[in-house]
Amino acid sequence: MDVNINSARLSAELESLATFSSVPAPAVTRVVFSEEDLRARAYVKRLCLEAGLSIREDSVGNTFARWTGSDPQLPAVATGSHIDAIPHAGRYDGTVGVLGGLEAIRALHDSGFRPRRSIELVLFTAEEPTRFGIGCLGSRILCGSLDGAADEALRDSQGQRLREWRTAAGYRGQLSTARLDWGHYAAFLELHIEQGRLLEQEGVPLGLVTAIAAPASLRIELEGDGGHAGALLMPDRHDAFLAASEIALALEAAVKATGAIDTVGTTGVCEVFPCAINSVPSRVKLEVDVRDIDEARRDGVLAALSTACERVARQRGIRVRTQLLNSDPPAHCSPELLAALASACDQRWIAHRRMVSRAYHDSLFMARIAPVAMLFIPCRNGVSHRPDEYASPEAIATGVAVLAGGLSALADTI
Ligand code: GLV
Ligand code: MN
Ligand code: MN
Repeated sequence: MDVNINSARLSAELESLATFSSVPAPAVTRVVFSEEDLRARAYVKRLCLEAGLSIREDSVGNTFARWTGSDPQLPAVATGSHIDAIPHAGRYDGTVGVLGGLEAIRALHDSGFRPRRSIELVLFTAEEPTRFGIGCLGSRILCGSLDGAADEALRDSQGQRLREWRTAAGYRGQLSTARLDWGHYAAFLELHIEQGRLLEQEGVPLGLVTAIAAPASLRIELEGDGGHAGALLMPDRHDAFLAASEIALALEAAVKATGAIDTVGTTGVCEVFPCAINSVPSRVKLEVDVRDIDEARRDGVLAALSTACERVARQRGIRVRTQLLNSDPPAHCSPELLAALASACDQRWIAHRRMVSRAYHDSLFMARIAPVAMLFIPCRNGVSHRPDEYASPEAIATGVAVLAGGLSALADTI
């Protein structure tokens, strides 16, 4: 299937989407259910309607835009990603998979292709953990990995519940109604920027993702004793921030001790109370993210971290409470879907390599209800989650062309 990707239109749409942000360009911040997120969703829905797609939204705001096939009873072939953006991020993470998926559908339509299976574009709610502290919220709920209890249990930093946020955004009904079963989709494909350097370094335009690393995250709350920064003498201190620092360093040591380049650990949140220059920190909240493609090795790091927390608490006379926020198994991509994508590359003379995804994606959860595969395109210097994130229009168009090839083959054959 030969298609023309309208790269100029897609670049303009990515640029427009980036304007829905709570911080000045080039940075993008778009937190789920914020004003910017709701306006960005409205923009994407309008583009989908203009493309002739029909829209459905579920109770958590996952949005489905469908191109109905000639045999609408058959399970659809789906593609998509997310449009929320972490604080001070760039404009390509997730959005390339949503607007690129739409462009693939429009290009297939304009080429005269008519699918047998329906083709559906999915915009997932909150792939990023910014508001509720857990990534892939929409795809987790959709695949049943989180149940209705999340409505009350998940809260933002001010204590406001998921239920309040989603209903205020207009997404009503029981969370459980968002659940889809195995068999609902015949296949799910996700196009994404690599967020690493491998493709760029090797000069390869496309990555076929074979597995997605297993992420786990942990909240660690430390409570020591505060006091006057001048008057409280050093031997008498139980400084919660110093204890937190030791724990962050212990995480780094545990990660490095695996000797595996695939093990990574990050202490990305450190909230200090009362956060005043002349006050000894009495409380600290850390949030820690650990990932590996080997689940057992990742869990070994979590165990070492827990031992370090106990040791630091004992030595420094502080209290430590840990809470595992999530610990997800890795996902493997479908060999059949990867073969379809490889053949779409070969038909277009596009070089490709197989690789693993160290970032997580909605595909990690979609793999629980459907065969999945992911396509990576290079991004400049491997930079992501930063305002200078960049993928060239040519790289994006290559990814979209292969995505279109994969979607058309799957919609016709499986
Ligand atoms: C997704 O944004 C991730 O943190 O991997
Ligand atoms: Mn991201
Ligand atoms: Mn992403």
